[in-house]
Amino acid sequence: MDIGLDESSDGMASGSEAVDQLIRRGLLHEVSTEALQMRRPWYLPPPTPNISRSARTSSDLQREFGQEKWGSLLARLDLMRSPTVEDADLVYFGEEESIGCLGASLFSGKSIYLNEMYVAAISEILKNHTQGMDVVDLGAGYGSLCLRFLADDRLAIDSLTALEFTHEGRECLRILGSPFRGLKVGACDFFALGITDVLIEPGSIILTSMSNMYVNHDQKRVLTDIINWGPKIVFHFEPSMSNNESELGWERDRYMSENNYNTALLPTLRSLEAQGLLKVLEVREVVAGINAVLPVGFISWQPTTFTR
Ligand SMILES: C[S@@+](CC[C@H](N)C(=O)[O-])C[C@H]1O[C@@H](n2cnc3c(N)ncnc32)[C@H](O)[C@@H]1O
Repeated sequence: MDIGLDESSDGMASGSEAVDQLIRRGLLHEVSTEALQMRRPWYLPPPTPNISRSARTSSDLQREFGQEKWGSLLARLDLMRSPTVEDADLVYFGEEESIGCLGASLFSGKSIYLNEMYVAAISEILKNHTQGMDVVDLGAGYGSLCLRFLADDRLAIDSLTALEFTHEGRECLRILGSPFRGLKVGACDFFALGITDVLIEPGSIILTSMSNMYVNHDQKRVLTDIINWGPKIVFHFEPSMSNNESELGWERDRYMSENNYNTALLPTLRSLEAQGLLKVLEVREVVAGINAVLPVGFISWQPTTFTR
């Protein structure tokens, strides 16, 4: 679907430009935290069907992503002729409405439009780093983010290695990625030593978005495996515990812990930094979210071999 966002002069709307255009077209509306609370009353346990509250196992992940999410998407893509990632987003988000966020501002509207805002916000951060680079996406899903990045001239990515845990997600990536040159699709598993058998070029950019949040133990080993690939820089767009003493901050923290999402990323990076293995370059608590109670933040870091 072409939602007809105007583009900035260099070809891509930033998060705030995207949201301005969507608001002007009546597709998103700025709302208050009270609207969020009315929609999803706080201090009540969220409904979490099919998701165990203990740490997720491989079979939990296989059921959630392999069968339910990417498996049903794949069945729909199989019926379409040359589907694009935008077609897949339309199937995946459907008519669902949500309240999302960009920084401190909250917006209501269809998830498909909140997703446009979300992708634009992340692209804006990446655009200064990706020119001519090999990018590796760990836990790429069906490619909703990474295939858009690959298609984006302003990011000018040289090659993309999209690695995904589920067979169904990898099949979606192959179908949706077929028009692109420079795309390699393969398997990865944060639970397995080494994460992947695919060769990662030293000096690559490593990316995770809402995938490292499923690491259920041994964050240190996952980060050590990444360091051993010798990446130039690593970017995480992941939710984290907030330091925000507001009701929305508490609600976000409660959502993270009730759903058992990984909160160990930043503390583990800090401890590896103290050991001299890496340098944390930037931390932002909230970038954007399609769900305002589960926004992604941003962390970038480099192995010390690159900072010396
Ligand atoms: C919420 S989706 C995010 C997909 C994509 N990164 C994006 O931002 O659109 C989470 C992804 O993480 C993957 N994942 C979950 N656990 C994983 C693990 N142990 N190893 C590798 N990937 C995993 C899932 O299969 C799923 O595709």
